Amino acid sequence: MSLQLTQKEKSLLQDQKSHEEMCVQKYSNYANQAQDPQLKQMFQQLAQKEQEHLNTVNQILNGQVPNMQSQQSSSGQSSKQSKSMKQIENGTTFNSVGTTPRPVTAETSFVSSSSNNSDKDLCQDMLMTEKYVSSTYDTTVFECTDTKVRQALNHIQKEEQEHGEEIFNYMQQNGMYNPQ
Ligand SMILES: [Fe+2]
Ligand SMILES: [Fe+2]
Repeated sequence: MSLQLTQKEKSLLQDQKSHEEMCVQKYSNYANQAQDPQLKQMFQQLAQKEQEHLNTVNQILNGQVPNMQSQQSSSGQSSKQSKSMKQIENGTTFNSVGTTPRPVTAETSFVSSSSNNSDKDLCQDMLMTEKYVSSTYDTTVFECTDTKVRQALNHIQKEEQEHGEEIFNYMQQNGMYNPQ
């Protein structure tokens, strides 16, 4: 069974493709630039996730019906459960090992030698990028003819929101973001 994509779908999917390429590139670059080893690792993992998104979008553009199960994990049906388990694990690790948030004052945020400044910039940039990419998936989903494609893009969009949450949590743990 091969997909018949409309011109509009093709054009929107080409955009998603370039967004994912940009995300892979940015996360890889930022993993190298990050000072904090924990942030480095997080960016490296996210670069891999973005590569999976890119693969899925390419599959769809090639007319293949996306198969979410084989793409996510080799263990098939248990993939969803093991993923949420992992997220819970990560959450507890964050809480027990996470550094005490330091108060960010006007003074500390202008000290250029503080490594947190550049890490904070990297996080802010990626948070904004994820927010944007997530919104573009929303637009693309509404133009999809095929249900399987809709589901795949919907799944990717959900993961973009989770990436945003990971970055948000990291920033909060490290005193980089304090919503009132
Ligand atoms: Fe992505
Ligand atoms: Fe993402």
